[in-house]
Amino acid sequence: MAITHPSFGTLADDRIIIFDTTLRDGEQSPGFSMNLEEKLRMAEALHELGADVLEAGFAIASPGDFESVQSIAKRFSKDGPVIASLSRANTADIMASAEATKPAARPRIHIVLATSDLHMRVKLRMTREEVLERITQSVTLARNHAADVEWSAEDGSRSDLEFLCRCVEAAIKAGATTINIPDTVGYSLPADMHEIFSTLINKVPGAEKAIFSTHNHNDLGLAVANTLAAIQAGARQVECTINGIGERAGNASLEEVAMAVRTRHDALHAKTGITTPRILKTSRLLATITGFDVQPNKAIVGRNAFAHESGIHQDGVLKDASTYEIMTPESVGWSTNSIILGKHSGRAAFRDRLKTLGYEVGDNQLNDAFKRFKELADRKKVVYDEDIAALVDDEVVRGND
Ligand code: KIV
Ligand code: ZN
Repeated sequence: MAITHPSFGTLADDRIIIFDTTLRDGEQSPGFSMNLEEKLRMAEALHELGADVLEAGFAIASPGDFESVQSIAKRFSKDGPVIASLSRANTADIMASAEATKPAARPRIHIVLATSDLHMRVKLRMTREEVLERITQSVTLARNHAADVEWSAEDGSRSDLEFLCRCVEAAIKAGATTINIPDTVGYSLPADMHEIFSTLINKVPGAEKAIFSTHNHNDLGLAVANTLAAIQAGARQVECTINGIGERAGNASLEEVAMAVRTRHDALHAKTGITTPRILKTSRLLATITGFDVQPNKAIVGRNAFAHESGIHQDGVLKDASTYEIMTPESVGWSTNSIILGKHSGRAAFRDRLKTLGYEVGDNQLNDAFKRFKELADRKKVVYDEDIAALVDDEVVRGND
């Protein structure tokens, strides 16, 4: 059923809201902090990418964080994304978030309170009843300052599901418009996630009034898988970061979620507003700002994501790229795929590269050059175009063919 949200109006059933938390949860990764100017540049890039919500920071955390949230809110005072600030469930935090996000055209106050027995006992020292009461008080206060309020159940995935249902019901009754269930410590499996979201969406009274959101950490490398399982169970907001940066092993990566939704529409029946050809540019901007590059084999944005080295794959890709590529490189911002010449490469790729480099060689010359290329490839990890040119020029001088 279509849902009407204070910031987004009426949303199509299959529309996934992309909540980007690169500037808040992402910035919490050790060594990834950004200054104000860098945050503004990232916010602009995320807007151009098509993120629907930017979590700009945690306003009460420091004067610098407050200033960043406020500056980003001012930057988007006319149009652009919803600007959110995180708050714990207390008056000072909520008032700081309300104040910092006020200049935004569409401000959001985001409140987090833990709901697992472990966190309530050890960290909060609160009973279940006290937590329920705090949810009602804090969400009610936030709603007096913003029409768009998100409530998050910290450690939600390790919470007692019946109690979690009561918490979600209380938050919606108090006026929360988005309900977020984080897998705070990256413990869940996709089947757990599916069950949690199906239960909440189908059983909690009033669930149809809120958007359900998923927020997954990558401690077991399952953040994206859990995000997709939540989407399949009806979640319509996903919280993620560029390059998957975030606390410990990181958050679900925005680029992987967006491309999974696009590539596997057959299974997920959903769509995002992400302009996917801008993905690579945004990923590179973050890497430049933070000084941390992504690993070569990172899905979508790693330098090997569209590179082919083995002969069998190269032969297939040269005939039809869809044999070994499930999306086009251009669809995520690469200008082309790449055929890497190394010891696993075959004759077809070698001949193709010679042609690209402008060499028309006969069969004997090709055989000799290919043999010498393989010997060189055993010594070098990657054989570059200059090496190939040198090999063939040498053959020509030696007068083969
Ligand atoms: O992982 C988490 O629980 C969080 C919340 C603050 C949403 O980041
Ligand atoms: Zn988190």
